[in-house]
Amino acid sequence: MTGPRLPPGPRLPPGPRLPPGPRLPPGPRLPPGPRLPWALQAPLYLAGPAWLERCRRRYGDRFTIRLGPFGDYVYLTDPEDIRAVFHGDDSLLHAGEANAAVLAPVLGPSSVLVTDEELHLRQRRRLTGPFHGGSVARLVPRMAAIAASDLDRWPVGRSFPVLARMRAVTLEVILQTVIGVTDESRLAPLRSALMAITDLPIWQMAQFPLPALRSRRPWRSFWERKARADALLAGEIERARSDPGLDDRPDVLAVLVRHREGDGTAMTGTELRDQIVTLLLAGHETTATGLAWALERLTRHPAVLARATEAARGGDERYLDAVVEETLRCRPVVPDVARRLTADYRLGPYSVPAGTFLTPAIALVHRSGRAYPGPERFDPERFTGARPDPAVWLPFGGGNRRCLGAAFAATEMRVVLGQILRRMDLEPSADRPERARMRHVTLVPHRGGRVRVARRVAMPTG
Ligand code: HEM
Repeated sequence: MTGPRLPPGPRLPPGPRLPPGPRLPPGPRLPPGPRLPWALQAPLYLAGPAWLERCRRRYGDRFTIRLGPFGDYVYLTDPEDIRAVFHGDDSLLHAGEANAAVLAPVLGPSSVLVTDEELHLRQRRRLTGPFHGGSVARLVPRMAAIAASDLDRWPVGRSFPVLARMRAVTLEVILQTVIGVTDESRLAPLRSALMAITDLPIWQMAQFPLPALRSRRPWRSFWERKARADALLAGEIERARSDPGLDDRPDVLAVLVRHREGDGTAMTGTELRDQIVTLLLAGHETTATGLAWALERLTRHPAVLARATEAARGGDERYLDAVVEETLRCRPVVPDVARRLTADYRLGPYSVPAGTFLTPAIALVHRSGRAYPGPERFDPERFTGARPDPAVWLPFGGGNRRCLGAAFAATEMRVVLGQILRRMDLEPSADRPERARMRHVTLVPHRGGRVRVARRVAMPTG
């Protein structure tokens, strides 16, 4: 897998912005889509990708989902349309604005996920170094040790939802490698305070687009929890700033504290806090979900499970990478991403109005028979001979918003899977495949990815 894409040095060529002139050229404005009232479209959308798949079959490669006060979403499934959006003019296609309504109160106003244009590029440039392939490779021993110690707690002989264990592992990896905390007396309060602001039920999140709720119970408790998490993070930032060993620390917080702009200025406390919370939120649940799907898929495919176990025990990292790539293809954790238009946009015969969200439909591209013969088959062999084609393999989005943690996530998935398969004999399962259900912006296995360990493998000592 390639490392995270660097922010553009020379600006990307402008996207298909409409030429100045009459604001609305003649022609239809939005592609067709279901005519149901928005209040019925919203729950269908939230139920999972099946309804969107039906929309694609019925309306074609471009279709519009109308979610009333939440806006109009034009779904794109043609790789050419998607490429134009990912590589278009970032002053026209705002990803930060699309994410901000729900995420800004938790992540903070300077977060790389909720900002656009210059502000976004500034934060992104600062974060690129620590997420480069070489920096991530240095974290492998720490990732492996965290996974191995969690495996000691797994039950043997009874099935359990593996997603919960995977969340614990990926949270620990972020706390130790991003914030650089390894001392248990500081880890324990950080763990609970950060989970209390990032792992929110959907009703708690309703207050973000509806500020009138914020001062009322039970919503206002969020702000008390946020104050506590911010105080702990401020303590970690201060500790890093005054750490005499700062120059030798490999964690992301240390890299950001050391960072200086061309004019010598350092990142402010708020900027540091916002990026750290962003990395935790963007990197923890997503990677855990990818791992749970990998185990769900492997246990449903005994021959692939046997091949992957052999690869893990024989050190064949390439095959494990292919398992990760195929899992993220057939069960993409984030099914779509959005860009909010700041001006009208030409999309084939349509002149899509400003304010609409253009939505590259990752999950629908990955299920397309044109891009992947037999798309419903779980078959890592698709990727053993060749790296995925970036035009149709999109689990990490694209362009100058492509996931900053792509190399980190793919490495972590390979390392954790490798540890599991080396240390455990997993039992193949004859159960039906688990359905994908929406949880916030991710698609999770509806039973939490139930697996059963047949036995532990004795590991050589020393
Ligand atoms: C399997 C795991 C992961 C998946 C599937 C995933 C997926 C994504 C996607 C789809 C986006 C939006 C891209 C776009 O809008 O085009 C994104 C953005 C981002 N991700 Fe990830 N991600 C994962 C893990 C991580 C990890 C481990 C980190 C860091 C520790 C991370 C940090 C970020 C950040 C900072 C952004 C915002 C980038 C920007 O707006 O410039 N992600 N991710």
